[in-house]
Amino acid sequence: MKSVAALKKKVLGRISPSASEAEAEKRFASRLKKILEGAGAEKVSFVGSAARDTGLKGDNDIDLFLQYPPELEKDYIVEKTFTYARKNIKADWIVRYAEHPYLQAKIGAFKVEVIPCFIAKPHEGIKSAVDRSPLHMDYLQKRLSLKQREDVRLLKQLLKNNGLYGAEIAVKGFSGLVCEYLTLNYRTFEGVVENSAKWRTPVRIDIEGTSEKQFTESLAIVDAIDRNRNAAAVTSEENVLRFIALCQAFASNPSEKFFFAKRKARTLAESKAAWKNRATQIALVEFPSPDVVEDILSPQLEKTRERAEKQLALDGFCALGAHSFTEKGKCFMLFEFASAEKPLVEKHFGPPAQDGKAVAKFLKGKKILRGPFIEGSKIVVETAGKKENAFEKLAELKTRAVKWGAASHLLSPLKKAIVRKNEGVFTPGAAQGLQDYFFKREPWW
Ligand code: CTP
Ligand code: MG
Repeated sequence: MKSVAALKKKVLGRISPSASEAEAEKRFASRLKKILEGAGAEKVSFVGSAARDTGLKGDNDIDLFLQYPPELEKDYIVEKTFTYARKNIKADWIVRYAEHPYLQAKIGAFKVEVIPCFIAKPHEGIKSAVDRSPLHMDYLQKRLSLKQREDVRLLKQLLKNNGLYGAEIAVKGFSGLVCEYLTLNYRTFEGVVENSAKWRTPVRIDIEGTSEKQFTESLAIVDAIDRNRNAAAVTSEENVLRFIALCQAFASNPSEKFFFAKRKARTLAESKAAWKNRATQIALVEFPSPDVVEDILSPQLEKTRERAEKQLALDGFCALGAHSFTEKGKCFMLFEFASAEKPLVEKHFGPPAQDGKAVAKFLKGKKILRGPFIEGSKIVVETAGKKENAFEKLAELKTRAVKWGAASHLLSPLKKAIVRKNEGVFTPGAAQGLQDYFFKREPWW
């Protein structure tokens, strides 16, 4: 790979928080930390990317963890933290839930999170999933050099611009922590790109080299403070392969476009024109989103769409492509077919032709349209198929969602589903998802 020093410098200028921004954030965080130290936890830690200078410009998260002895009850530390924070830090606190509840508030430009957790030791088992974060902080703070912190930022920006950044289920990409571990492991941003370009799945990275656990995922990055955990467990195989392809493309011709390429916004009319060119039939199932968090909705919608594709295939409608997405409080599932009509003939393969008895049984009572004839070793007949189209089939999702295998939170909203057809699919409410489908393309190619 040719030298990328100048490119890195240029990109860093655009993505790093300014010195004054970073300082203001740290000053504010340490003020909050001081206040929270009165809550009675054993220790209060400011963690996450802002605390270790690995965050991107404009990402103003302040994560404060209150660490209590593990002997205490979860309910107790939650109650204690909440009461104290609400009383001593004036803000519009809202309660959010990960594995257990935490507080969140926007204070000025900052998004503050106050998270009660238990004190943990590396590799010794944890009481709650959030207990690891202060350990990550200790580990990374000691090891990341100033240059490496810049390299983490570059990696995050590269991933973000190509839709691969984030451990949330809707993305199934690379988390901030994974970016930090990759940078430590391969030393530099260039090291990450060059080495990842050569990955062959399954990939295993164990910085400390002390894990004996066999992981099943296609990318395993042993968590340096918890050797039995794969820090990259949520990254999908498809996204690992996307990352490899992205690194190969970058390494062969590094440029700024990999960090900032803008996707051309397409109008609804352009999506429609793209569809017309394909001469296909399309259906769009639209229904209200249930009131559940994104990390639940997104996998449920994906699963429901996959099961609907299977059901359609069983009924003789093989989709050319499918896509599911949410937009402004609505869920959508899109299906594209070469033809929405099933052929009016059904072909049935029977028993081996020489097996007279079985053949007779097979033929009995059949209303034959063509045949019987022998194909290969088998007896074959064709009968008249029922007139059916994919749009009518899809309407069954309204009345028979359980049979179709719809996921739990979608069963009730699906009763209100409407099935849009062809031209009718191009509704403004689904514009982004339609663009994503009809102009699908990996951003770096
Ligand atoms: N964390 C983790 N595994 C994840 C996500 C988060 O262990 N899949 C922990 C890490 O200790 C991380 C902390 O939670 O440092 C905060 O998470 P988050 O804000 O999502 O990530 P950051 O590292 O702060 O990165 P970003 O720049 O995106 O905020
Ligand atoms: Mg963060």
